[in-house]
Amino acid sequence: MKALCWHGTGDVQVDTVPDPKILNPGDAIVKITSTAICGSDLHLFDGFMPTMEKGDILGHEPMGVVVEVGKAVKNLKAGDRVVVPFTISCGECFFCQKEMYSLCDNSNPNAEIARAAMGHSPAGLFGFSHMLGGYAGGQAEYLRVPFADVGPLKIENDSLSDEQVLFLSDIFPTGYMAAENCGIEAGDTVAVWGCGPVGQFTIQSAWMLGAGRVIAIDRVPERLAMAQKHGKAETINFDDEKVYDRLMEMTSGRGPDRCVDAVGAEAHATGSVDSVIDAAKTAVMLGTDRPHVIREAIMCCRKGGTVSIPGAYVGVMDKLPIGSMMNKGLTIKTGQTHVQHYNKQLLKKIEAGDIDPSFVITHQVKLDDAPAAYKTFRDKEDGCIKVVLKP
Ligand SMILES: NC(=O)c1ccc[n+]([C@@H]2O[C@H](COP(=O)([O-])OP(=O)(O)OC[C@H]3O[C@@H](n4cnc5c(N)ncnc54)[C@H](O)[C@@H]3O)[C@@H](O)[C@H]2O)c1
Ligand SMILES: [Zn+2]
Ligand SMILES: [Zn+2]
Repeated sequence: MKALCWHGTGDVQVDTVPDPKILNPGDAIVKITSTAICGSDLHLFDGFMPTMEKGDILGHEPMGVVVEVGKAVKNLKAGDRVVVPFTISCGECFFCQKEMYSLCDNSNPNAEIARAAMGHSPAGLFGFSHMLGGYAGGQAEYLRVPFADVGPLKIENDSLSDEQVLFLSDIFPTGYMAAENCGIEAGDTVAVWGCGPVGQFTIQSAWMLGAGRVIAIDRVPERLAMAQKHGKAETINFDDEKVYDRLMEMTSGRGPDRCVDAVGAEAHATGSVDSVIDAAKTAVMLGTDRPHVIREAIMCCRKGGTVSIPGAYVGVMDKLPIGSMMNKGLTIKTGQTHVQHYNKQLLKKIEAGDIDPSFVITHQVKLDDAPAAYKTFRDKEDGCIKVVLKP
């Protein structure tokens, strides 16, 4: 089959690789009909994620049709149309029982590497480095799905297009969990850093959960425009204005009640000293992340407020304003998304017509054209906000 493979920093290629096979009785094989590129894939593409190997198949936002199931699979059969969560979860361990699916204890065969780096291993993820399981990803013609009774979400309503349900694999639940982690109280002001796809779904979800005001921060004009038009957010362009000053002006000096970092490890910053040091350190491998946004969100957040971090980080960081965080009594919440906990309730919202997630799609291309699409998405060229690949 054809699959999009990682070959090194900035180098992905469509290769011909062996078709996946059922390896365990709980596996299913899914023929992929639509699969998206995520901001998290950019961290791999840009070489930020350790333990990638040449030939690794990328992709963790897939959907398609089941073509084969292992002997132990009860809930799926060939022909079922499914969206596959990016989190691989056993459904039975301590964490899965608590519906903390991204923390599954049983799905990372390389747990030792993760434990050495993080103290404990989170769940295995599709297409996301060897430290997180070394699983082949879903930017491919076929995907092996372990724990197939726990992960895939069946889509029985044929009137819903792939484009409407595909993002139940990751970014819609991710935006929703980011907003839920804020602990929004009715009328709260929610500030969202990053107007990429995750930021867009965080904005939508903040309204669903009772926000009174949403402020979106980015510097890419079409992303700010989408936040304004679809997200009904007020916007700040961080190239034009000092974010702290503007947020204080907009909130009469109190600061936003809830702050969301939907940017992650590769934040840009205009004219700030911390970001120059981060860039230098990551360039010579002395640091792993560029956490400008976490620092800024902590400084801006109102006393007693919440900073929610869906943005992905990989290693260690310095100059975290812990004094501000502690003395202002902030709550910090974060995590890879517990997709299986959210996707059924969010499917209901799509079915009810409360939201049509396809609004974020700007580009649809063939899998063969994925290498060029990675560059277009990374460089934010051609108005690119979200790419869907068609194998
Ligand atoms: N927690 C999870 O389970 C989960 C799931 C999906 C994605 N993610 C992470 O969420 C983050 C966002 O994903 P995405 O697909 O939207 O990515 P993206 O790269 O498309 O969007 C990031 C946006 O942040 C903006 N940005 C950069 N620096 C900024 C700054 N200083 N202030 C404000 N905005 C800034 C960029 O211009 C860009 O529009 C990534 O780190 C991704 O890895 C996490
Ligand atoms: Zn993703
Ligand atoms: Zn588990």
